[in-house]
Amino acid sequence: MKNQSEINIGLVGHVDHGKTTLTKALSGVWTDTHSEETKRGISIRLGYADITFRKCPECEPPVCYTTATVCENCGTETELLRKVSFVDAPGHETLMATMLSGAALMDGAILVIAANEPCPQPQTKEHLMALDVIGVKDVIVVQNKIDIVSRERALESYREIKEFVRGTCAEDAPIIPVSAQQGANIDILIETIEEKIKTPEREVDKPARMYVARSFDINKPGADPEHLAGGVIGGSLVQGRFHVGDEIEIKPGIQIKKDGKQTWMSLHSEITGLVAGGQEMEEVGPGGLVGVGTLLDPALTKADSLSGSVAGEPGTLPPVRHSFTMETHLLERVVGTKEETKVEPIKTGEPLMINVGTTTTVGVVKSARADDADVVLKLPACAEEGQRIALSRRVGARWRLIGYGIIK
Ligand code: GTP
Repeated sequence: MKNQSEINIGLVGHVDHGKTTLTKALSGVWTDTHSEETKRGISIRLGYADITFRKCPECEPPVCYTTATVCENCGTETELLRKVSFVDAPGHETLMATMLSGAALMDGAILVIAANEPCPQPQTKEHLMALDVIGVKDVIVVQNKIDIVSRERALESYREIKEFVRGTCAEDAPIIPVSAQQGANIDILIETIEEKIKTPEREVDKPARMYVARSFDINKPGADPEHLAGGVIGGSLVQGRFHVGDEIEIKPGIQIKKDGKQTWMSLHSEITGLVAGGQEMEEVGPGGLVGVGTLLDPALTKADSLSGSVAGEPGTLPPVRHSFTMETHLLERVVGTKEETKVEPIKTGEPLMINVGTTTTVGVVKSARADDADVVLKLPACAEEGQRIALSRRVGARWRLIGYGIIK
């Protein structure tokens, strides 16, 4: 599986702090353009880039760390270290739902903080809280735009960052000063990623399970029905392996009418093709983003209609939940806004945005108690008991992260 990335690393942070520029500095790929993802036919609404980390056998660290196949320092051929998928989450505050569903796919994350602005900016804080809430533990802070600040401001910014991360999952995170635009300290960043964000142990012997982040109809308009390709789903496996020819089930599936009532029916199909790292594969496992071709009617997969579902070995997927009881854990303050207000307790009757895996849905609270609550979902979610969910509440015109729940 050498074409497949081993790990997904999220790039998060406030708008314009340099996530996209950093992805480009690391890879030469602009996640914003989407041309690469069109070519590969698979991506997620979040930008992403597959990057290969390499090491020069002759040079000393950190200069030996690179993504080039020939060492820029001494001309020696470099050796492969690891393939990594970077998930570039949008920094704009209205895109928090996308960031939260992306966080479900992140094994580790890089929090990009621009040194030329006071820290924390609203989405710097909201994204770090999201990592905390979803349980992404391996975090590296990149202190970016170091080329446009004075030494004094760089040190002050460092102190602001240190103070800001205290008590969070990034408390002990390394802080790497970088200029993404000038390509400065990228080698040190690669070295730090290699040391701090290790590939997790994958349960490849368990039944395959994939979080679906996107789905497509890859046929051109007016394509000849004889040659129509089946529906394609894209996402990341969290356990197990998929092979070409495997049977798969996708849940919750589609809404149908049965005995006059609306209900959901899971979809069953066969895997006709697999793509990872831009190449056709016979087998894929966890890590990186994977495109799965199926025999499904492409009308069922077009325009991301299956994003948020879970796919895997038939009969092994978690139950489809239309409601659940959850243990609730609330933040002290609503983050992501300039003025931070206190998080009030969850109230019976209020709607909450619920992110579980890559699913975004709204749950109406039927009964709220001190430490738990019953919610009824507008759209069902395929989720396991004990799974963590991110909870957001409407504050003004936006959904704001207020804490997390655990499905009972
Ligand atoms: P969103 O995806 O919209 O959240 O933004 P982003 O975080 O991806 O920021 P992006 O990479 O688009 O950078 C925003 C602006 O900052 C661009 O004009 C970049 O050229 C500039 N920029 C990024 N990194 C650096 C840097 O290291 N130094 C300087 N001087 N400018 C930078």
